[in-house]
Amino acid sequence: MKIEVISARLEDVKADSVVIQLFEGTEAPEIAITLPESIKKEIAPSIERGGFRAKLGQVLPTYPSSVSVAGCFMLLGLGNKQDFSLEAVRQAHGYAIIRAKEMGMRNMVIPIPSLPPYSVPEITSSVVEALSLASYRFDRYKSKVEDGKQPELIQLLVGSDVKAMCDAAAREAAVVSEAVKLARDIANMPSGDLPPKKMAEVAAEVGRISGFSTRVIEAEELERMGMGGIISVGKGSSNPPVLIIMEYDGGGETYAVVGKGVVFDSGGISIKPSEKMEEMKYDKSGAAAVIGLMKAVAELKLPIKLVGIVPAVENLPSGRALKPGDIVRFRNGKTAEIISTDAEGRLILADALAYASEMKPKAIIDLATLTGACVIALGTHASGLFSNNDGLAEALIKAGEKVGERLWRLPLWKEYFEQIKSEVADMKNVGGRPAGAITAAAFLMNFVGDGIPWAHIDIAGTAWTQESSPEKSYIPKGATGVGVRLLVEFLKSRSERS
Ligand code: BES
Ligand code: ZN
Ligand code: ZN
Repeated sequence: MKIEVISARLEDVKADSVVIQLFEGTEAPEIAITLPESIKKEIAPSIERGGFRAKLGQVLPTYPSSVSVAGCFMLLGLGNKQDFSLEAVRQAHGYAIIRAKEMGMRNMVIPIPSLPPYSVPEITSSVVEALSLASYRFDRYKSKVEDGKQPELIQLLVGSDVKAMCDAAAREAAVVSEAVKLARDIANMPSGDLPPKKMAEVAAEVGRISGFSTRVIEAEELERMGMGGIISVGKGSSNPPVLIIMEYDGGGETYAVVGKGVVFDSGGISIKPSEKMEEMKYDKSGAAAVIGLMKAVAELKLPIKLVGIVPAVENLPSGRALKPGDIVRFRNGKTAEIISTDAEGRLILADALAYASEMKPKAIIDLATLTGACVIALGTHASGLFSNNDGLAEALIKAGEKVGERLWRLPLWKEYFEQIKSEVADMKNVGGRPAGAITAAAFLMNFVGDGIPWAHIDIAGTAWTQESSPEKSYIPKGATGVGVRLLVEFLKSRSERS
């Protein structure tokens, strides 16, 4: 599927389908783009007939009676004008491409509407993301792919005055979308085919192509470095743990991102119920997002230094596994009493956060499918945000709003730290059922160096979509790749600021 930006008159194009965006109106739908009279006339009967309300994502294929610029005009609902946002653009155009695929369209034209307060390049970018992300399938294990074919060519029509800017926006959006798809691939991979060392190889390979370096620290050295959290969680599996460190140098300030890379979370000795345990292959979604983010930032050549840190482990029970009651010592010297071996994410992140802090970065952000409690609190509609810094939290929330990956901040009051006090160690790894997402974040905060702005993003509810959740057009079932677009946007805003 080739996507290109062109500047031409709609009357002069030739395609087998042209998308026409409309808003839901009080009486009839309202066309959202400037159209030549001839085309308006051709689609008027279909609009007036009344069946098409232009609800968000609603698609009505109409076929002009005379020879026209296209064999089909695909009327596309953008929903209510009051609710319009870039997210509506993404949702709507995601549905457009899904329908186009079903209808076997080979060659499409999408005029990009000008809809303030959003700029035409911004809308172009959202359209490209939607087209690219809605077409994603994890089908590498299928002998036969049943899906329809994608269009060969999609041309985005813009005015000549903004063509250059839209070109750049489209190129950037394509880079970011590929990075999101890489993150989805990594998270969707069965753990049997992606043990920690393999994940490190994938990261190194991506780095070679995209332009960042990768170091892989293996178990023996982790032991010497005092990474007791990663070692203890990893020791139950015959696939040894690793710490993956990716570095991109675009000059400028250093940011660190940390991703939970539990390739499979059985719970360990505190074993999980077997129902839905297969979903725990997604427990590496934080790591997947960090690797995707490194790819995007390196390819976009953002003027920052970015360090991606992924502790990768497999949490399994065995004769060598970590046990409740054990006490673990981490990289920064602190200790924790193990109450549940299923609260393993915080143990590996503890070492990674302590290590990241040693680099004294401008900020540390971690992404983790950390707690079921976060899913109970926010469902699948937002990721949990926890931070020791208001400015950082606000910037992340703003980036999330823009890209359609919402964050909701929860408090880190000192009372929550009381919940994880231990009789025998500096802390315990579980603070009881109340506020489970917060006590997990409080645990992590013990490993962030003094004065370093830090944010923890719990993506347990947003990292993958299940059968039961309504499918979003550009987020097919399975891994979502959440975090990549969010942090690209955040880092872009930071690099523009300086
Ligand atoms: N990976 C899970 C968290 C999780 C659960 C993510 C369900 C998405 C869906 C994590 O390692 C875990 O098991 N957390 C426990 C912590 C508890 C033992 C304090 C949980 O949330 O139940
Ligand atoms: Zn667990
Ligand atoms: Zn886990």
